[in-house]
Amino acid sequence: MSLKEIKIRIQKLREEINHHRYLYHVLDRQEISDAALDSLKHELGQWEKEYPEFITSDSPTQRVGGQPLDKFVKVNHQSPMLSLNDVFSQQELIDWEKRNIKIIPGSYNYFGELKIDGFAVSLIYKNGIFHSGSTRGDGLVGEDVAQNLKTIESIPLKLTILSKKEYQDNGIESGVYKNLVSKIEEGEIEIRGEVYLTKDDFELINQEQKEKGLDLFANPRNIAAGSIRQLDSRLVTARHLNFLAYALVTDLGQTTHREEHQILRLIGFKTDNFAKVVNNKEEINLFWRDIMSHRDKLPYQIDGLVININDNQIFRNLGVVGKAPRGAIAYKFPAEEVTTIVEDIIIQVGRTGVLTPVACLRPVMINGALISRATLHNEDEIKRLELKVGDTVIVVRAGDVIPSVIKVLKNLRSGHEKEFVMPQKCPNCFQRIVKPEGEVNYRCLNKDCSAIQKEQIYHFVSKKAFNIVGLGPKIIDHFYDLGLIKDASDIFYLKKEDLEPLERFAEKSADNIIASIENSKKISLSRFIYALGIFHVGEETAIDLANYFNSLKKIQRASFDEINALPDIGPVIAQSIHFWFQDEVNQKFLSRLFLAGIEIENPILHPTNYKLQTKLFVLTGELESLSRDQAKEKIRALGGEISESVSKKTNYVVVGKNPGSKYTQAQKLNIKILNEEEFLKMSTD
Ligand code: IVH
Repeated sequence: MSLKEIKIRIQKLREEINHHRYLYHVLDRQEISDAALDSLKHELGQWEKEYPEFITSDSPTQRVGGQPLDKFVKVNHQSPMLSLNDVFSQQELIDWEKRNIKIIPGSYNYFGELKIDGFAVSLIYKNGIFHSGSTRGDGLVGEDVAQNLKTIESIPLKLTILSKKEYQDNGIESGVYKNLVSKIEEGEIEIRGEVYLTKDDFELINQEQKEKGLDLFANPRNIAAGSIRQLDSRLVTARHLNFLAYALVTDLGQTTHREEHQILRLIGFKTDNFAKVVNNKEEINLFWRDIMSHRDKLPYQIDGLVININDNQIFRNLGVVGKAPRGAIAYKFPAEEVTTIVEDIIIQVGRTGVLTPVACLRPVMINGALISRATLHNEDEIKRLELKVGDTVIVVRAGDVIPSVIKVLKNLRSGHEKEFVMPQKCPNCFQRIVKPEGEVNYRCLNKDCSAIQKEQIYHFVSKKAFNIVGLGPKIIDHFYDLGLIKDASDIFYLKKEDLEPLERFAEKSADNIIASIENSKKISLSRFIYALGIFHVGEETAIDLANYFNSLKKIQRASFDEINALPDIGPVIAQSIHFWFQDEVNQKFLSRLFLAGIEIENPILHPTNYKLQTKLFVLTGELESLSRDQAKEKIRALGGEISESVSKKTNYVVVGKNPGSKYTQAQKLNIKILNEEEFLKMSTD
């Protein structure tokens, strides 16, 4: 064969393999046997080996990556990867709609789709060829996992271009079609969706784990997430991951979410076959009930529906609250219940010293997850349930929530069940425990209790805090027990030489841990505050504090009243925060952190979200379509700041009905005045 003929043969082989890949992995159809397809792949591989100059990045042979990576590179998302707020009932659904209609009056229709329980990723195609792909991370910064995503056969390496007629027949408008084709030919397209594992593959993998005597995976999502974050992409292939696309981020002028799904399907992605337009709440509920009754028969795990406002313009204008868009919600299915036996009751000592009784269960599957523990909350709850060790119980699990025991089936008792007695001392440090007035929990007050200290360190390094990858509870326990770390600040003083002599620590893993500790040193203010583990300060409160005070120094110096004045912070939380920063031990802890080189930085936002950055706003008067807090939220979400009084530094004064003296002050100082409409225009992207 001439060189030209070989090139053509290679090209044709690729097209043929790609066609069968698409049939099998996207459309769930098969025209030729696996063996025949393998044979085609083999021939292609042979040609490419002989003529490496003909290898292209979208060749099917390129799905298996090369050398394992040392670490993943961080990537800034072009627009934040948000999450969804949950609703669990018809009433909550009605309330959601009402809230939206109050902001943007009208009647909307919706696009409903299945909420697959997997792992969200973003894919970027450049000039129609798969270019990169990343995890959600914290929503703003993820990790480049392109090597691993390439192994997923339902992810096309090249986007398909169809004829104009095919687009038109599928309801794609000509402007959108033109933009699409031009962006595939030259430009960038971003797609988001879910990586997931089928229930069958989950069981197969767990079967293999069992045979190898390894720990079982709790649910398919954990395997999907773990595989995508695997440094050696060759190991990912064996996991048979799938991908379902649910969002086209690039603006091609698509006007509805439905159109977005159509486009995704037409350019070569698997999309949800059940997804459809639902015209009103009644139709949403019918759809929800229908899918719920079929969920067990689906090949993959779902935990509810995603309901989007179909009109993209309304969706965008409704904006974002916290980390979730207002225009979409997860309409969750009710919790699943199963029966099993309580084999033991143990006491867990938490980060704040709270002692929580936990039921050790005979392992049981609930909605695709293997459950062996359930929280019993506190001693009163055990009394209320009249639970004894050995009892048969009903366990419930809703979504990601920790499973809990809801009922004891007393008729099934054999008489051998044992009464549970709450210990009088901390089961870890054997110090006295107390039950403060008005509280239901016992607490260990010993600040030196190793269980509490370890839990604080686990929290400090956890994903939403310092996110020190590789430093899991087992390693922390090990270091702590050896006296290498006493509190979280000691982590930053660890040296490679400290780690290497330890059992299980080859040079490479010591290097990796030191590197991830080093990498974590730059941290956003909200994560930093969250990491401190201040009693009552969760992720949201940490974000509120960071946004409001904007610097750690200001929080440290803030009085109780100043903290208490924040909209979502009540006196109990305010006191807890204030006390924490007054405590000398905590102050020393902070000093040690900064001495080690911790640097607090502002969250990195995408430029579009920085639309109002450095802009100082003052609000006066009543706005019609949104509350004062909502307006402030909008400004902050786009990087702007709010002040209570007008000064020369003020950039804009937003004026509603019945404005106060700030309005006249603004006129005096010649500051730009915005009416509600102008403000809304400016604050929607
Ligand atoms: S839309 C604004 N659609 O659920 C967020 N998400 O809590 C955009 N998910 O992170 C998500 N199926 O991992 C959307 N059909 C679907 C989904 C879906 C699963 C996951 C996704 C997201 C999480 C939201």
